[in-house]
Amino acid sequence: HFKCHIFPKDFPQLQNDTFLRAARGEETEHVPVWCMRQAGRYLPEFRESRAGKDFFETCQTPAACCELTLQPLRRFPFDAAIIFSDILVVPQAMGMDVQMVAGKGPTFPEPLKEPEDLQRLRVKVDVGKELGYVFKAITLTRHKIEGKVPLIGFTGAPWTLMSYMIEGGGSNTHSKAKRWLYRHPEASHMLLRMLTDVIVEYLLGQVAAGAQALQVFESHAGILGPVEFKEFALPYLRDIARRVKDKLKEAGQDVPMIVFAKDGHYALEDLSQSHYEVVGLDWTIDPQSARERTGGKVSLQGNMDPCALYAPKERISDIVKKMLEGFGTRAYIANLGHGLYPDMDPESVGAFVEAVHTHSRQMIKQ
Ligand code: CP3
Repeated sequence: HFKCHIFPKDFPQLQNDTFLRAARGEETEHVPVWCMRQAGRYLPEFRESRAGKDFFETCQTPAACCELTLQPLRRFPFDAAIIFSDILVVPQAMGMDVQMVAGKGPTFPEPLKEPEDLQRLRVKVDVGKELGYVFKAITLTRHKIEGKVPLIGFTGAPWTLMSYMIEGGGSNTHSKAKRWLYRHPEASHMLLRMLTDVIVEYLLGQVAAGAQALQVFESHAGILGPVEFKEFALPYLRDIARRVKDKLKEAGQDVPMIVFAKDGHYALEDLSQSHYEVVGLDWTIDPQSARERTGGKVSLQGNMDPCALYAPKERISDIVKKMLEGFGTRAYIANLGHGLYPDMDPESVGAFVEAVHTHSRQMIKQ
Protein backbone atom coordinates (compact mmCIF):
# COMPACT_ATOMS: atom_id res chain seq x y z
CA HIS A 1 0.00 0.00 0.00
CA PHE A 2 3.02 2.22 0.50
CA LYS A 3 3.92 2.59 -3.14
CA CYS A 4 0.66 4.22 -4.09
CA HIS A 5 1.76 7.31 -2.14
CA ILE A 6 4.80 7.79 -4.33
CA PHE A 7 3.79 10.15 -7.08
CA PRO A 8 4.43 13.83 -7.76
CA LYS A 9 2.03 16.29 -6.25
CA ASP A 10 2.20 19.21 -8.69
CA PHE A 11 5.08 20.84 -6.87
CA PRO A 12 6.51 24.04 -8.38
CA GLN A 13 9.38 23.47 -10.82
CA LEU A 14 12.86 23.42 -9.27
CA GLN A 15 14.90 26.46 -10.33
CA ASN A 16 18.22 25.82 -8.57
CA ASP A 17 19.35 22.21 -8.75
CA THR A 18 23.03 22.95 -7.98
CA PHE A 19 22.89 21.00 -4.72
CA LEU A 20 21.37 17.92 -6.40
CA ARG A 21 23.89 18.01 -9.25
CA ALA A 22 26.84 18.29 -6.84
CA ALA A 23 25.42 15.38 -4.83
CA ARG A 24 25.52 13.28 -8.00
CA GLY A 25 29.05 14.44 -8.85
CA GLU A 26 27.96 16.49 -11.87
CA GLU A 27 29.43 19.83 -12.87
CA THR A 28 27.98 23.05 -11.43
CA GLU A 29 28.51 26.80 -11.98
CA HIS A 30 29.22 27.33 -8.30
CA VAL A 31 29.68 25.14 -5.25
CA PRO A 32 26.31 24.75 -3.49
CA VAL A 33 26.13 25.61 0.19
CA TRP A 34 23.79 25.10 3.13
CA CYS A 35 24.32 24.93 6.89
CA MET A 36 23.31 22.31 9.39
CA ARG A 37 20.92 24.00 11.86
CA GLN A 38 20.35 26.84 9.40
CA ALA A 39 16.86 27.06 10.89
CA GLY A 40 17.89 27.85 14.43
CA ARG A 41 18.23 30.13 17.39
CA TYR A 42 20.96 32.32 15.84
CA LEU A 43 18.12 33.97 13.88
CA PRO A 44 16.05 36.54 15.83
CA GLU A 45 12.97 35.65 13.75
CA PHE A 46 13.42 31.99 14.73
CA ARG A 47 13.58 32.90 18.43
CA GLU A 48 10.46 35.01 18.03
CA SER A 49 8.50 32.27 16.25
CA ARG A 50 9.55 29.68 18.84
CA ALA A 51 9.04 31.92 21.90
CA GLY A 52 6.82 30.39 24.57
CA LYS A 53 6.05 27.30 22.50
CA ASP A 54 6.94 23.75 23.33
CA PHE A 55 9.66 22.40 21.03
CA PHE A 56 8.00 19.11 20.07
CA GLU A 57 4.59 20.80 19.70
CA THR A 58 6.28 23.06 17.18
CA CYS A 59 7.67 19.98 15.42
CA GLN A 60 4.10 18.61 15.26
CA THR A 61 2.71 21.80 13.66
CA PRO A 62 3.32 21.68 9.88
CA ALA A 63 2.73 25.42 9.33
CA ALA A 64 5.30 26.28 12.04
CA CYS A 65 7.86 23.82 10.61
CA CYS A 66 7.32 25.33 7.16
CA GLU A 67 7.82 28.89 8.39
CA LEU A 68 10.98 27.99 10.34
CA THR A 69 12.40 26.11 7.34
CA LEU A 70 11.85 29.11 5.07
CA GLN A 71 13.25 31.79 7.41
CA PRO A 72 16.95 31.27 6.59
CA LEU A 73 16.18 31.25 2.84
CA ARG A 74 14.75 34.76 3.10
CA ARG A 75 18.07 36.02 4.42
CA PHE A 76 20.71 34.00 2.59
CA PRO A 77 21.04 32.47 -0.90
CA PHE A 78 21.41 28.91 0.44
CA ASP A 79 21.29 26.21 -2.24
CA ALA A 80 19.18 23.83 -0.14
CA ALA A 81 16.68 23.86 2.70
CA ILE A 82 16.36 21.26 5.46
CA ILE A 83 12.99 20.59 6.98
CA PHE A 84 12.64 21.86 10.56
CA SER A 85 12.10 18.82 12.80
CA ASP A 86 14.20 16.70 15.16
CA ILE A 87 15.83 13.28 15.13
CA LEU A 88 14.03 12.37 18.39
CA VAL A 89 10.58 12.19 16.77
CA VAL A 90 11.47 8.58 15.85
CA PRO A 91 11.82 7.33 19.45
CA GLN A 92 8.56 9.19 20.17
CA ALA A 93 6.87 7.31 17.32
CA MET A 94 8.13 4.07 18.88
CA GLY A 95 6.29 4.91 22.10
CA MET A 96 8.86 6.79 24.18
CA ASP A 97 8.19 10.07 25.92
CA VAL A 98 10.71 12.82 25.03
CA GLN A 99 10.60 16.37 26.35
CA MET A 100 12.71 19.43 25.58
CA VAL A 101 13.88 20.76 28.94
CA ALA A 102 15.11 24.36 28.92
CA GLY A 103 18.82 24.59 29.67
CA LYS A 104 19.19 20.81 29.54
CA GLY A 105 18.15 19.75 26.05
CA PRO A 106 16.11 16.72 25.00
CA THR A 107 15.21 14.46 27.92
CA PHE A 108 13.62 11.00 28.17
CA PRO A 109 11.83 10.75 31.57
CA GLU A 110 11.90 6.93 31.32
CA PRO A 111 14.94 5.83 29.28
CA LEU A 112 15.58 2.18 28.41
CA LYS A 113 17.57 0.61 31.26
CA GLU A 114 17.68 -3.12 30.61
CA PRO A 115 16.79 -5.34 27.63
CA GLU A 116 13.35 -6.08 29.20
CA ASP A 117 12.51 -2.42 28.58
CA LEU A 118 12.41 -3.11 24.83
CA GLN A 119 8.94 -4.52 25.55
CA ARG A 120 7.80 -0.96 26.21
CA LEU A 121 8.40 -0.09 22.56
CA ARG A 122 5.64 -0.48 19.98
CA VAL A 123 6.05 -3.79 18.15
CA LYS A 124 4.72 -2.46 14.86
CA VAL A 125 4.97 1.29 14.33
CA ASP A 126 2.40 2.85 12.00
CA VAL A 127 4.79 5.43 10.57
CA GLY A 128 2.09 7.21 8.58
CA LYS A 129 0.02 7.69 11.71
CA GLU A 130 2.79 8.51 14.19
CA LEU A 131 4.92 10.71 11.92
CA GLY A 132 2.33 11.93 9.43
CA TYR A 133 2.82 15.44 10.81
CA VAL A 134 6.40 15.46 9.45
CA PHE A 135 5.14 14.33 6.03
CA LYS A 136 2.54 17.12 6.08
CA ALA A 137 5.24 19.64 7.00
CA ILE A 138 7.39 18.44 4.09
CA THR A 139 4.57 18.60 1.52
CA LEU A 140 3.51 22.07 2.69
CA THR A 141 7.10 23.35 2.68
CA ARG A 142 7.82 21.86 -0.74
CA HIS A 143 4.93 23.95 -2.09
CA LYS A 144 5.79 27.13 -0.19
CA ILE A 145 9.46 26.98 -1.17
CA GLU A 146 8.24 27.62 -4.74
CA GLY A 147 11.00 25.59 -6.36
CA LYS A 148 13.73 27.99 -5.21
CA VAL A 149 15.95 25.19 -3.83
CA PRO A 150 15.60 21.47 -3.05
CA LEU A 151 14.18 20.37 0.30
CA ILE A 152 16.22 17.93 2.39
CA GLY A 153 14.53 15.41 4.70
CA PHE A 154 16.47 13.70 7.49
CA THR A 155 16.59 11.12 10.24
CA GLY A 156 18.83 10.15 13.11
CA ALA A 157 20.80 6.95 12.50
CA PRO A 158 20.04 3.84 14.59
CA TRP A 159 23.09 3.99 16.90
CA THR A 160 22.61 7.71 17.62
CA LEU A 161 18.93 7.20 18.43
CA MET A 162 19.69 4.09 20.52
CA SER A 163 22.20 6.02 22.58
CA TYR A 164 19.64 8.78 23.30
CA MET A 165 16.97 6.21 24.22
CA ILE A 166 19.29 4.58 26.79
CA GLU A 167 21.11 7.67 28.10
CA GLY A 168 17.84 9.57 28.39
CA GLY A 169 19.52 12.77 27.19
CA GLY A 170 22.89 14.31 26.48
CA SER A 171 25.96 12.58 27.95
CA ASN A 172 29.74 12.94 27.94
CA THR A 173 30.67 9.27 28.15
CA HIS A 174 27.57 7.59 26.69
CA SER A 175 28.55 4.81 29.05
CA LYS A 176 25.00 3.62 29.68
CA ALA A 177 24.42 3.09 25.97
CA LYS A 178 27.88 1.60 25.41
CA ARG A 179 27.28 -0.76 28.36
CA TRP A 180 24.49 -2.30 26.27
CA LEU A 181 26.87 -2.89 23.35
CA TYR A 182 29.33 -4.79 25.54
CA ARG A 183 26.93 -6.46 27.97
CA HIS A 184 23.78 -6.95 25.87
CA PRO A 185 24.97 -7.20 22.24
CA GLU A 186 21.95 -9.24 21.11
CA ALA A 187 19.43 -6.87 22.66
CA SER A 188 21.42 -3.99 21.15
CA HIS A 189 21.15 -5.51 17.69
CA MET A 190 17.44 -6.09 18.25
CA LEU A 191 16.91 -2.43 19.14
CA LEU A 192 19.08 -1.27 16.21
CA ARG A 193 17.02 -3.48 13.85
CA MET A 194 13.75 -2.08 15.22
CA LEU A 195 15.03 1.45 14.68
CA THR A 196 16.26 0.62 11.17
CA ASP A 197 12.83 -0.71 10.15
CA VAL A 198 11.09 2.47 11.32
CA ILE A 199 13.75 4.72 9.77
CA VAL A 200 13.45 3.06 6.33
CA GLU A 201 9.70 3.65 6.25
CA TYR A 202 10.15 7.13 7.67
CA LEU A 203 12.61 8.14 4.91
CA LEU A 204 10.42 6.65 2.18
CA GLY A 205 7.45 8.56 3.60
CA GLN A 206 9.49 11.77 3.51
CA VAL A 207 10.31 11.24 -0.18
CA ALA A 208 6.68 10.43 -0.96
CA ALA A 209 5.77 13.69 0.81
CA GLY A 210 8.23 15.70 -1.29
CA ALA A 211 11.75 15.46 0.17
CA GLN A 212 14.33 15.76 -2.65
CA ALA A 213 17.37 14.52 -0.71
CA LEU A 214 17.86 12.68 2.59
CA GLN A 215 20.48 13.12 5.29
CA VAL A 216 21.15 10.49 7.96
CA PHE A 217 22.67 11.98 11.14
CA GLU A 218 25.01 9.59 12.97
CA SER A 219 25.87 12.31 15.46
CA HIS A 220 27.28 9.94 18.06
CA ALA A 221 29.71 8.06 15.80
CA GLY A 222 32.64 9.59 17.67
CA ILE A 223 31.79 7.81 20.88
CA LEU A 224 32.41 4.44 19.18
CA GLY A 225 35.74 3.08 17.98
CA PRO A 226 36.31 1.45 14.58
CA VAL A 227 35.47 -2.06 15.83
CA GLU A 228 32.18 -1.11 17.51
CA PHE A 229 31.26 1.17 14.62
CA LYS A 230 31.70 -1.72 12.17
CA GLU A 231 29.46 -3.93 14.29
CA PHE A 232 26.77 -1.58 15.63
CA ALA A 233 26.55 1.41 13.29
CA LEU A 234 27.82 0.71 9.77
CA PRO A 235 25.64 -2.35 8.95
CA TYR A 236 22.50 -0.38 9.80
CA LEU A 237 23.60 2.71 7.88
CA ARG A 238 24.21 0.49 4.84
CA ASP A 239 20.93 -1.35 5.29
CA ILE A 240 19.02 1.94 5.41
CA ALA A 241 20.54 3.24 2.18
CA ARG A 242 20.14 -0.11 0.40
CA ARG A 243 16.51 -0.57 1.37
CA VAL A 244 15.47 3.03 0.71
CA LYS A 245 17.18 3.00 -2.69
CA ASP A 246 15.71 -0.34 -3.74
CA LYS A 247 12.19 0.85 -2.93
CA LEU A 248 12.69 4.19 -4.67
CA LYS A 249 14.10 2.47 -7.74
CA GLU A 250 10.92 0.39 -8.02
CA ALA A 251 9.01 3.66 -8.12
CA GLY A 252 11.45 5.12 -10.67
CA GLN A 253 12.81 7.68 -8.24
CA ASP A 254 16.37 8.72 -7.52
CA VAL A 255 16.96 10.73 -4.36
CA PRO A 256 20.53 11.49 -3.23
CA MET A 257 21.39 10.34 0.29
CA ILE A 258 23.93 11.90 2.64
CA VAL A 259 25.51 10.14 5.60
CA PHE A 260 26.97 12.40 8.30
CA ALA A 261 28.87 10.46 10.95
CA LYS A 262 30.14 13.13 13.33
CA ASP A 263 33.72 12.39 14.49
CA GLY A 264 33.68 9.20 12.44
CA HIS A 265 36.86 9.92 10.50
CA TYR A 266 38.16 6.42 11.33
CA ALA A 267 35.29 5.02 9.22
CA LEU A 268 35.69 7.27 6.18
CA GLU A 269 36.68 4.50 3.74
CA ASP A 270 33.74 2.35 4.84
CA LEU A 271 31.31 5.26 4.73
CA SER A 272 32.32 6.03 1.15
CA GLN A 273 31.24 2.50 0.20
CA SER A 274 27.88 2.42 1.95
CA HIS A 275 25.51 3.26 -0.94
CA TYR A 276 25.30 6.96 0.00
CA GLU A 277 26.06 9.48 -2.75
CA VAL A 278 27.41 12.01 -0.27
CA VAL A 279 29.54 11.70 2.86
CA GLY A 280 29.25 14.60 5.32
CA LEU A 281 32.40 15.54 7.23
CA ASP A 282 33.13 17.33 10.47
CA TRP A 283 36.07 19.72 10.78
CA THR A 284 38.50 17.18 12.24
CA ILE A 285 39.20 15.81 8.74
CA ASP A 286 41.53 17.54 6.30
CA PRO A 287 39.68 18.11 2.98
CA GLN A 288 42.46 16.78 0.76
CA SER A 289 42.99 13.62 2.77
CA ALA A 290 39.21 13.06 2.85
CA ARG A 291 39.27 13.16 -0.97
CA GLU A 292 42.15 10.71 -1.10
CA ARG A 293 40.58 8.32 1.35
CA THR A 294 37.21 8.30 -0.41
CA GLY A 295 38.90 7.81 -3.78
CA GLY A 296 36.44 9.85 -5.85
CA LYS A 297 33.67 7.36 -5.12
CA VAL A 298 31.36 9.89 -3.43
CA SER A 299 30.60 13.57 -3.20
CA LEU A 300 31.73 15.24 0.02
CA GLN A 301 29.92 17.74 2.22
CA GLY A 302 31.30 19.98 4.97
CA ASN A 303 33.35 20.82 6.86
CA MET A 304 34.27 24.29 8.15
CA ASP A 305 34.60 24.49 11.92
CA PRO A 306 31.40 26.32 12.95
CA CYS A 307 33.54 28.39 15.32
CA ALA A 308 35.34 29.89 12.33
CA LEU A 309 32.19 32.02 12.03
CA TYR A 310 33.43 33.93 15.09
CA ALA A 311 36.30 35.23 12.91
CA PRO A 312 36.13 38.58 11.09
CA LYS A 313 34.54 38.44 7.59
CA GLU A 314 37.83 38.62 5.63
CA ARG A 315 39.21 35.74 7.64
CA ILE A 316 36.03 33.69 6.97
CA SER A 317 36.55 34.33 3.28
CA ASP A 318 40.17 33.08 3.47
CA ILE A 319 39.19 29.97 5.39
CA VAL A 320 36.46 29.18 2.85
CA LYS A 321 38.92 29.64 -0.03
CA LYS A 322 41.36 27.16 1.52
CA MET A 323 38.51 24.72 2.12
CA LEU A 324 37.40 24.97 -1.52
CA GLU A 325 40.96 24.42 -2.72
CA GLY A 326 41.24 21.37 -0.50
CA PHE A 327 38.01 19.72 -1.68
CA GLY A 328 38.00 21.01 -5.24
CA THR A 329 34.83 22.41 -6.77
CA ARG A 330 33.46 19.19 -8.26
CA ALA A 331 31.33 16.68 -6.30
CA TYR A 332 31.41 19.03 -3.33
CA ILE A 333 28.72 20.65 -1.16
CA ALA A 334 29.96 23.33 1.20
CA ASN A 335 28.66 23.22 4.76
CA LEU A 336 29.89 23.52 8.32
CA GLY A 337 31.35 20.54 10.16
CA HIS A 338 28.36 20.61 12.51
CA GLY A 339 25.38 22.83 13.30
CA LEU A 340 25.33 26.59 13.87
CA TYR A 341 25.37 27.70 17.52
CA PRO A 342 22.72 30.04 18.96
CA ASP A 343 25.22 32.86 19.65
CA MET A 344 26.42 33.11 16.08
CA ASP A 345 26.03 36.31 14.10
CA PRO A 346 23.69 35.96 11.10
CA GLU A 347 26.00 38.33 9.20
CA SER A 348 28.85 35.83 9.51
CA VAL A 349 26.60 33.14 8.07
CA GLY A 350 25.91 35.49 5.15
CA ALA A 351 29.65 36.04 4.72
CA PHE A 352 30.22 32.26 4.66
CA VAL A 353 27.60 31.68 1.96
CA GLU A 354 28.86 34.56 -0.13
CA ALA A 355 32.48 33.42 0.15
CA VAL A 356 31.55 29.93 -1.06
CA HIS A 357 29.64 31.29 -4.06
CA THR A 358 32.19 33.94 -5.03
CA HIS A 359 35.37 31.90 -4.67
CA SER A 360 33.91 28.80 -6.29
CA ARG A 361 32.56 30.72 -9.30
CA GLN A 362 36.04 32.14 -9.85
CA MET A 363 37.72 28.76 -9.47
CA ILE A 364 35.30 27.07 -11.87
CA LYS A 365 35.68 29.78 -14.54
CA GLN A 366 39.48 29.38 -14.62
O1 CP3 B 1 18.24 23.51 10.45
C1 CP3 B 1 18.34 22.28 10.60
O2 CP3 B 1 19.45 21.69 10.61
C2 CP3 B 1 17.06 21.45 10.64
C3 CP3 B 1 16.51 21.13 11.88
C4 CP3 B 1 17.15 20.19 12.90
C5 CP3 B 1 16.91 20.34 14.28
N1 CP3 B 1 17.43 19.26 14.91
C6 CP3 B 1 16.19 21.45 14.89
C7 CP3 B 1 16.46 21.76 16.29
C8 CP3 B 1 17.91 19.03 12.72
C9 CP3 B 1 18.49 18.46 11.45
C10 CP3 B 1 18.06 18.45 14.01
C11 CP3 B 1 18.72 17.15 14.24
C12 CP3 B 1 19.17 16.80 15.59
N2 CP3 B 1 18.50 16.94 16.76
C13 CP3 B 1 20.38 16.16 15.87
C14 CP3 B 1 21.38 15.71 14.84
C15 CP3 B 1 22.23 16.81 14.37
C16 CP3 B 1 23.33 17.15 15.32
O3 CP3 B 1 23.28 18.24 15.88
O4 CP3 B 1 24.24 16.32 15.47
C17 CP3 B 1 20.45 15.96 17.26
C18 CP3 B 1 21.61 15.34 18.01
C19 CP3 B 1 19.23 16.44 17.80
C20 CP3 B 1 18.78 16.40 19.23
C21 CP3 B 1 18.64 17.78 19.72
N3 CP3 B 1 17.57 18.59 19.41
C22 CP3 B 1 19.55 18.53 20.50
C23 CP3 B 1 20.86 18.03 21.06
C24 CP3 B 1 19.00 19.82 20.65
C25 CP3 B 1 19.61 21.01 21.35
C26 CP3 B 1 19.03 21.26 22.70
C27 CP3 B 1 19.43 22.63 23.19
O5 CP3 B 1 18.69 23.13 24.05
O6 CP3 B 1 20.44 23.19 22.75
C28 CP3 B 1 17.76 19.82 19.96
C29 CP3 B 1 16.83 20.96 19.84
C30 CP3 B 1 16.75 21.58 18.49
N4 CP3 B 1 16.53 20.89 17.34
C31 CP3 B 1 16.83 22.96 18.21
C32 CP3 B 1 16.65 23.09 16.82
C33 CP3 B 1 16.61 24.34 16.02
C34 CP3 B 1 17.03 24.10 19.21
C35 CP3 B 1 15.95 24.19 20.24
C36 CP3 B 1 14.78 25.12 19.97
O7 CP3 B 1 14.49 25.49 18.83
O8 CP3 B 1 14.12 25.48 20.95
